[in-house]
Amino acid sequence: MEHKILAYLEQRPNEYVSGEQLSELLGCTRTAVWKHIRSLRDQGYTFDAVSRKGYKLTGKPDKLSAAAILAELSTAVMGRSVKMYDSVDSTQTIAHRLAEEGAPEGTLVIAEVQTAGRGRMGKNWHSPKGKGVWMSLVLRPNIPVHFTPQLTLLVAVALNRTIRKLEPSLPVAIKWPNDLLVDGRKISGILLESNAEDERLRHVIAGVGISVNLQEGDYPEELRGIATSLRMLSGREWSRSELIRAFLEQFEALYNLYDSEGFEPIRTAWEASAYSLGRPIAARTPRGVVEGVAESIDEMGALIVRHPDGSVTKLYSADI
Ligand code: BTN
Repeated sequence: MEHKILAYLEQRPNEYVSGEQLSELLGCTRTAVWKHIRSLRDQGYTFDAVSRKGYKLTGKPDKLSAAAILAELSTAVMGRSVKMYDSVDSTQTIAHRLAEEGAPEGTLVIAEVQTAGRGRMGKNWHSPKGKGVWMSLVLRPNIPVHFTPQLTLLVAVALNRTIRKLEPSLPVAIKWPNDLLVDGRKISGILLESNAEDERLRHVIAGVGISVNLQEGDYPEELRGIATSLRMLSGREWSRSELIRAFLEQFEALYNLYDSEGFEPIRTAWEASAYSLGRPIAARTPRGVVEGVAESIDEMGALIVRHPDGSVTKLYSADI
């Protein structure tokens, strides 16, 4: 019933269709039509309803689907195979399994909700249903295992470029190694997990979480004040499919550049968008807190921290 109403209204994008017409179309009462419209509204559809004219469809929910992502995707490899799930524990787990089963490079795993989303340093990642982009990309880079920190920074640069392209007014900056911040609040997180044997990299799973259409009430108390979403910052709903497509395109371009020219252009781009550089930091590492001024990143992607006595520490993994 409801899909018939939608199809009918979609075919008449600029017209009002009366309750009477719809009740004839469906062979039901006007009250039943009204109930279907109410149910569609609950599912995220929006209608303009004008008395004596009827209903006009004004918006559809941002339901993710492989078809919606692939429809206008211009990449050659990234996201060419999309595995879409309603609910998973973590898209990382699924992507690792698919990679082990031979999934090709660029395979993308997306879920509407994650029940056990993983963050860096063993933290949880808040991934409420239908509000964000929770995705993992299978990569098979031809690099030694100790080069993977470079890829982490590459993903951050790609995501930063994506958001800046879609909303140039947002002052997005990258906090080392790969958090995207706006006005000091986190809007996305990146988690790279490698599967390697000795120095040989089998695959890397690049996990990306973007807080897209979350509102204040969608965050647990402890995240309010430190996290924010694209919607809260821009005051508008974002299309998640468009965001995913734009990210895949930016990422593929940078990944190809990395393949042909190495890390240097990525490092330059990362430093140009860095939030942390030149600031005093206190980095929590597995071996204790490192304090100093974040100076630059080196050719491997490590953060160089200078101490007051002039000595430096290189950080490969830390929380700052
Ligand atoms: C961070 O701690 O900042 C990294 C968060 C990474 C979250 C993403 S969401 C998609 C993918 N699946 C996960 O379980 N984690 C990553």
